[in-house]
Amino acid sequence: MFHWLEKNPFFFAVGVFVVIAFAGLVEILPNFSEASRPVIGLKPYTVLELAGKEVYKKDNCIACHSQLIRPFKSETDRYGQVSLSGEYAYDRPFLWGSKRTGPDLHRVGNYRTTDWHENHMWNPQSVVPKSIMPAYKHMFTNIADIETAYAEAVTVKNAFNTPYGDEFQGTRAAWDAYRPKVIEEAKAIAADMKNQDVKDTVAKGEIPEIVALIAYLNRLK
Ligand code: HEC
Repeated sequence: MFHWLEKNPFFFAVGVFVVIAFAGLVEILPNFSEASRPVIGLKPYTVLELAGKEVYKKDNCIACHSQLIRPFKSETDRYGQVSLSGEYAYDRPFLWGSKRTGPDLHRVGNYRTTDWHENHMWNPQSVVPKSIMPAYKHMFTNIADIETAYAEAVTVKNAFNTPYGDEFQGTRAAWDAYRPKVIEEAKAIAADMKNQDVKDTVAKGEIPEIVALIAYLNRLK
């Protein structure tokens, strides 16, 4: 029936293109549908967590850590359930990474705690003697940029309809009203830490990077 097609290279090429294009669309289109993302119960990052994510990017944790649990038994046994695309719906950009010098961190919030991170970031070898991870002591004094994190939340709310509430209007007054909530969140993290300077800084209304970073790491579940 299709002999004529086999004898016409041009129409045959068009036919092949149509078939491949259709198969490609069947694979790609579902990813664009609203319903397939985000996963149920997923909340956007809080301002403090966003600030921590910035620290993660700035200090280049992605150079050694992935955030993508692949469907291998060795990974699911160690890190937990395989990662789903809908879990990254509010990750802009996502931080999957491609270098796995250290462990995957996509669900690190399930098995590491604030005080563990505090010790580990100050001096990795104090908790994992043979660790080759560098120390990040500067994070205990550097101040996190929560105002930019707030602006980031406003931007993704406006650009991508990320479900942030009415407090995210982006005006100076809205930010001044919202700021104390971020400090409260930071205080809850600092309460579980032992570094007195960090606690004092938060009490004064500034947030050291380590607090924001830990808020972010705790959120990875
Ligand atoms: C030079 C590579 C390197 C860099 C850069 C690096 N890490 Fe690591 N990380 C490791 C290695 C190796 C381990 C495993 C040994 C250990 O636990 O210290 C590790 C372990 C960890 C763990 C424990 C995970 C677990 O499952 O036990 C956390 C959390 C972590 N890193 C966070 C970070 C963060 C946050 C940054 C960026 C500020 C960072 N790492 C940067 C190499 C690195």
